[in-house]
Amino acid sequence: MKNDLHKILLSSQKIDRRVKELAVEIDRYYKDREILLVTLLDGAIVFAADLIRNLTIPLRLDCIRVSSYGNSTDPETAPRILSSLKSEVLQKHVLLVDDILDTGNTMKSVYEEVSAKDPASVQTCVFLDKPERRQNNFKADWSGFSIPDEFVVGYGLDYAGRYRQLPFVATLKSSILEDK
Ligand code: PRP
Repeated sequence: MKNDLHKILLSSQKIDRRVKELAVEIDRYYKDREILLVTLLDGAIVFAADLIRNLTIPLRLDCIRVSSYGNSTDPETAPRILSSLKSEVLQKHVLLVDDILDTGNTMKSVYEEVSAKDPASVQTCVFLDKPERRQNNFKADWSGFSIPDEFVVGYGLDYAGRYRQLPFVATLKSSILEDK
């Protein structure tokens, strides 16, 4: 797997430091209010797992499964919500957590779906942001790193389902991307 990588963009140490900073900011924002932290599967599981272990506010967990990309590096279709929340969100402070804000279409559609259920608030936290790629005006409330428009893997992000377990974020060799 390491032979497939071109360059490490974000080291695990750098990610660890930033996740801790985000947790401090989120703790401070919510004070001691309980939140419902919603992880967008699959990509956000690594980020969410690290984030929650650094948060000190009371929280409950839920997940939502959205799919839009398939095996392609470009969005093919509108995001589809494949499996919805099991929790009641009415009057809850909901924090949506995703690995990457790219076109913004996934987060926007989840945000709208959750907001329609009368929560007390909805905030968003993404690990990576690619502002150049945005197709709407969606902005995350918290973002780990803003990165250029390069295809990256690791720390939950995949290419054709692989590389999610890498503890850092890296680009792939062009020969790997061309292989598909
Ligand atoms: C990826 C990523 C985000 C979404 C961002 O999900 O996890 O949810 O794309 O892209 P957007 O801002 O252009 O909508 P993907 O559908 O690849 O599924 P995954 O989470 O299982 O990797």
